[in-house]
Amino acid sequence: MKFAYWVPNVSGGLVVSTIEQRTHWGYEYNRDLARIAENSGFEYALTQVRYAASYGASEQHESTAFSLSLLLATERLKVIAAVHPGLWHPGVLAKWIITADHLSGGRAAVNVVSGWLKQEFVGFGEPWLEHDERYRRTGEFIQALRGLWTEQGFDLRGDFYRFHDATLRPAPVDVPGRAHPEIFFGGNSTVARATAGAHADWYFSNGKDLDGFGEQYHDVTDAAKTAGRAIRFGLNGFMIARDSQAEARETLREIVAKADRPAVDGFRDAVRQAGASTSDKKGMWADSTYEDLVQYNDGFRTGLIGTPEEIAERIIAFKRRGVNLFLLGYLHFQEEVQQFGATVLPLVRELEAEEARTA
Ligand SMILES: Cc1cc2nc3c(=O)[nH]c(=O)nc-3n(C[C@H](O)[C@H](O)[C@H](O)COP(=O)(O)O)c2cc1C
Repeated sequence: MKFAYWVPNVSGGLVVSTIEQRTHWGYEYNRDLARIAENSGFEYALTQVRYAASYGASEQHESTAFSLSLLLATERLKVIAAVHPGLWHPGVLAKWIITADHLSGGRAAVNVVSGWLKQEFVGFGEPWLEHDERYRRTGEFIQALRGLWTEQGFDLRGDFYRFHDATLRPAPVDVPGRAHPEIFFGGNSTVARATAGAHADWYFSNGKDLDGFGEQYHDVTDAAKTAGRAIRFGLNGFMIARDSQAEARETLREIVAKADRPAVDGFRDAVRQAGASTSDKKGMWADSTYEDLVQYNDGFRTGLIGTPEEIAERIIAFKRRGVNLFLLGYLHFQEEVQQFGATVLPLVRELEAEEARTA
């Protein structure tokens, strides 16, 4: 099992609540956090992309620049920058990431996100495509990235992007076991699952219980098989590890009781542009409750809430269902990332070793 954490590069932390959060969105806090994380067993960090306030995140640092700053401040951490097709040209981004890859010894990665916050596109005077068209564009965008990273004289005649005999020099760093900078994919609707299966290296699921994740695993794996490919799975979860189950539950109760109601309501209105706007109404936030939305990626649903022992068991249960990586959020990032490395992670590794012995 691999672990990633959400970079808190937007204000307000990872929950839309007025509860105390000892987390800061600025550079110095995040630089120190990245160093703590790589020394606490985290292999990846994910920087989110946000151009306009939503879910109370009134201030935001740009994802690619912020990711590069964290790559330069660390030695082993791979940093994944979220990017929007439609706002980035894939050729410019491919070149940008190659440079970041060279500056970091082959640790740059991207999370291609198709967008749900209409105001970000409208505010920049860019067209807001209909839901499934956004994913058709994303498919071409990923094809372009991969082509530019692996081929010389790259050609693409797409509906959204065109390339003619394009060669990027230098190529990305040659890292054993990695064909090119890794391509993660965030999006959960039916068309998102098909697009990820056909094109992405990693599929990110919003927070889910075991069966909810299992359904997505099934659909995405099928789509990948049809395309003759393999894909790996990351699952979001908000972790509350405390000395007792009761204490952890009490923290969750307090987060929700102190929710910033107007911000959660505004977020609920905005996300109707996601999977809920499609004909089968499947996708991210389509069936989220008010409590779910207080963690804006449904992270409470994953149930990483309890003692370190309970959480480690649950991580292994998800591993059996096909999760390869956990993407984790916390209330007090620096403290809890360190605590994860000291208490939860050793238990996960023990359970994994036990599984391997009995297998
Ligand atoms: C783990 C994860 C991270 C995401 N990060 C971002 C982000 O940083 N910025 C963004 O605009 N959307 C982000 N998204 C949202 C997706 O791009 C997409 O809009 C959302 O999943 C809705 O998908 P659907 O329309 O397929 O249901 C993320 C999604 C997931 C699952």
